[in-house]
Amino acid sequence: MTKILMVCLGNICRSPLAEGILKSKLPNSKFKIDSAGTGNYHIGDLPDQRSIKVAKKYGLDITDQRGRQFSVNDFDDYDLIYVMDESNFENVIKLARNAHDIAKVDYILNEIYPNQNHSVPDPYTGGIQGFENTYKMLDEACEQIANKLLYNS
Ligand code: 4NP
Repeated sequence: MTKILMVCLGNICRSPLAEGILKSKLPNSKFKIDSAGTGNYHIGDLPDQRSIKVAKKYGLDITDQRGRQFSVNDFDDYDLIYVMDESNFENVIKLARNAHDIAKVDYILNEIYPNQNHSVPDPYTGGIQGFENTYKMLDEACEQIANKLLYNS
């Protein structure tokens, strides 16, 4: 079982989409996929209605997800930890205990733009178009992750 965690700030906009998209591309018998936020603002909350709407447009139901906060235990529970932006990266790395923990963490867009540390911009304060853009970026990155995990390992 390969275990993958998607991380953003609130765990209501970007990482729930990343979780839903990657789940749709990998068999759940072999991959555990979850998401979390570095912040504690939305613990127990549904994903943002705009994320729910965009996911639904592409055939994904993410309404089973609830917000939770990233914790140090996630370094033990997951093999790969994908962050959306630089602030998520710094907040996750702050909790790392050793080089093994740090090695699990990467920017999700490095899967398509290696070593460039590009961010998936936070769409929270904008309109629905930002959520569309987020979906497209994450779909491309997750396609790459799924191909890598299924065929190159
Ligand atoms: P996310 O977006 O990190 O993609 O879930 C945000 C959602 C909520 C907040 C910030 C970012 N917030 O400050 O409440």
